[in-house]
Amino acid sequence: MKNTIKHKYVVALLLSVITCSTMFSQNKSSKNFSIDEINTKVDSILPLLTLEEKVAMCHAQSKFSTPGVDRLGIPEIWMSDGPHGVRAEISWDSWDYAGWTNDSITAFPALTCLAATFRPELSAQYGMSVGEEALYREKDVLLGPGVNIYRTPLNGRNFEYLGEDPYLASKMVVPYIKGVQKNGVAACVKHYALNNQEHWRNIINVEVSDRALHEIYLPAFKASVQEAGVWSIMGAYNKVRGQFACHNELLLNDILKKDWGFDGVVISDWSGAHSTEESALYGLDMEMGTGTDGLGTSTANHYDHYYLASPFLKAIKNGDMDEALVNDKVRRILRLMYRTNMNPNKALGKINNKEHHDVARKIATEGIVLLKNENNFFPIEDKEGLTIAVIGENATRSMTAGGGSSELKPKFEISPLEGLKQRYKKAKIIHAMGYHTGSSVYDNIIPSNLNQDSLRIEAIATAKKADIVLYVGGLNKSHLQDCEGDDRQSYELPYNQEELINQLKAVSPKLGMLLVTGNAVETPWLSKVDGLLQTWYLGSMAGHAIADVVSGDVNPSGKLPFSFPKKLKDNGAHFYGEISYPGDGTNQYYKEDILVGYRWHDTKKIASQYAFGYGLSYTKFSLSNIKADQNKYNTKDNITVSCSINNTGNLEGDEVVQVYIGKKNSKVKRALKELKGFNKASLTKGESKNVSISIPVSSLAYYNESISDWSIEKGDYLIYVGNASNNISKTIKISVQ
Ligand code: BGC
Repeated sequence: MKNTIKHKYVVALLLSVITCSTMFSQNKSSKNFSIDEINTKVDSILPLLTLEEKVAMCHAQSKFSTPGVDRLGIPEIWMSDGPHGVRAEISWDSWDYAGWTNDSITAFPALTCLAATFRPELSAQYGMSVGEEALYREKDVLLGPGVNIYRTPLNGRNFEYLGEDPYLASKMVVPYIKGVQKNGVAACVKHYALNNQEHWRNIINVEVSDRALHEIYLPAFKASVQEAGVWSIMGAYNKVRGQFACHNELLLNDILKKDWGFDGVVISDWSGAHSTEESALYGLDMEMGTGTDGLGTSTANHYDHYYLASPFLKAIKNGDMDEALVNDKVRRILRLMYRTNMNPNKALGKINNKEHHDVARKIATEGIVLLKNENNFFPIEDKEGLTIAVIGENATRSMTAGGGSSELKPKFEISPLEGLKQRYKKAKIIHAMGYHTGSSVYDNIIPSNLNQDSLRIEAIATAKKADIVLYVGGLNKSHLQDCEGDDRQSYELPYNQEELINQLKAVSPKLGMLLVTGNAVETPWLSKVDGLLQTWYLGSMAGHAIADVVSGDVNPSGKLPFSFPKKLKDNGAHFYGEISYPGDGTNQYYKEDILVGYRWHDTKKIASQYAFGYGLSYTKFSLSNIKADQNKYNTKDNITVSCSINNTGNLEGDEVVQVYIGKKNSKVKRALKELKGFNKASLTKGESKNVSISIPVSSLAYYNESISDWSIEKGDYLIYVGNASNNISKTIKISVQ
């Protein structure tokens, strides 16, 4: 249906070039229109539109599109999930898949993995590649990336986000957005804001301090707007200070549009709008997904009943609302269109090409984190006579199916088992599942119909036959696991995996584990495994990336983008009990305030099992000659921190220098330290490299609630330089004057 419609618009578009010369008089040699050109074009088009046409552009006409204006050659806008690849085509009026045969794509690694690379250049490649695929699939808006801060390990959607640190998330999201948008496809950064849990996401009201809002939860959105120039943003489902986030005066009008100068489109999350008046007045520009299915039970078109449809039109017509409200929304929408589907210089896009598969594999390989490696369990050499038992359902389970809106239909997905089998030519690989779970279906748990006892017995028997056992476990994309719509119900590994690990250890002295999750899990079984790799959800190239690291073809260099607390209570959001997480069903209070993730562990002196920024390598690194360029700075200065990274081991590898800064004797509450800079360097065996990291003193400011602005406190600060938040090689005192 869409292609026919698009074709019609292309014809209309061409005709309009003749009739409306201002519309497409762009300079053919430049790829994108300048903002001044866009605004001029928008100004000339707006008066040509009727009120009905303008209102129609502010809401959906199908599950994932909004209408154009046929008579003027203004095309429809087509959107698609999501952050990890372009989702399969959805039906016009329902969530069912349309059943197309030409919509298979490359599945890229989940964003937690991207964050773990600590390599912004890879984020640029990710954005460029997924943008090219969106372009090929004729999408104008890609509904991602997600930058909600990792507050609790129970959040079912953490795997779609960039971890617990606002600085890391900001640094990683900006190149992603720029990469997508270079293609003339709008990124839609989501979910703005404070959608930090899935449980009760449609009803919960979040109460948070101004400091935590500005210092922790907003920076990645702000960077998306001000540094990446994102063209659209998606409101969150939850309420913030009593008002739904999709039409929230503070978040949308005051902060996003006024303070940050956002000139793009605010799109509601699907069914996130709840009122005509608030949608009209408080910053929502485009309403999507209201109601369950597109067509209601009445004979009238359901879309006409959207809050920003007939009721909005009526309110403007009878003078209850000013036409300026719709004009502002349509201006934003037309601006987005000149950046996307009305930019005739767009390329055609690419899909499933080798370059995209290579990018997916590179990011997957670089994001894998080596958490434990006793007696050099990893890498495992491929040799004759060696038998490796690969145990676990996650060795073969598709991890692109399920999980909610980020679900994908990849052209292929190499499983861990398949990747290992392709890599290990001399060693013998044997496999057993150990347990089985039903397929991953949204909002529903499908029980397995296999006999779990037999699977367990088979797994132990298989393990007995092997020299080495690799257990591939973790979570999956089913309801109440790493999945949209609700949260995990416990911090432990599900499906009796702890018992399985214990049983495997009893028959196998050499046991390693691949932890396939997008979240931290409790690790009481840790002493039973000799080696542990955090392998995320890696998409199309999962198995190859895993085999790259397990075999030692690639030396692991990922670092955790969030902490692994030992116990759930050790996490700041859980410390204060239900009122903080998940709330009482109506409200929740972010009582840990600015102390999220490692900020909580550090400040409260509660050691995590694995700290933010932690990750081992097959080689060894040391940091030396660590210094700041001065010991006194003024507030306009940059602090340059430099050091030498030395690869003292026997293999080439990559290391991430991390710079954290904390304020001594602050007059306000502060975290012990906060990440302010990082640099990842590649070193050959025995090599030393100097790296320097520049940090503006202005980034040491705290959000001063009494003046609703940022303040830089003068006095002494401590700079902590290391390769993990809990492994600091040197602390340097500086002062700001
Ligand atoms: C999700 C969004 C997604 C949208 C469209 C919502 O339920 O929260 O992230 O983009 O659906 O699928």
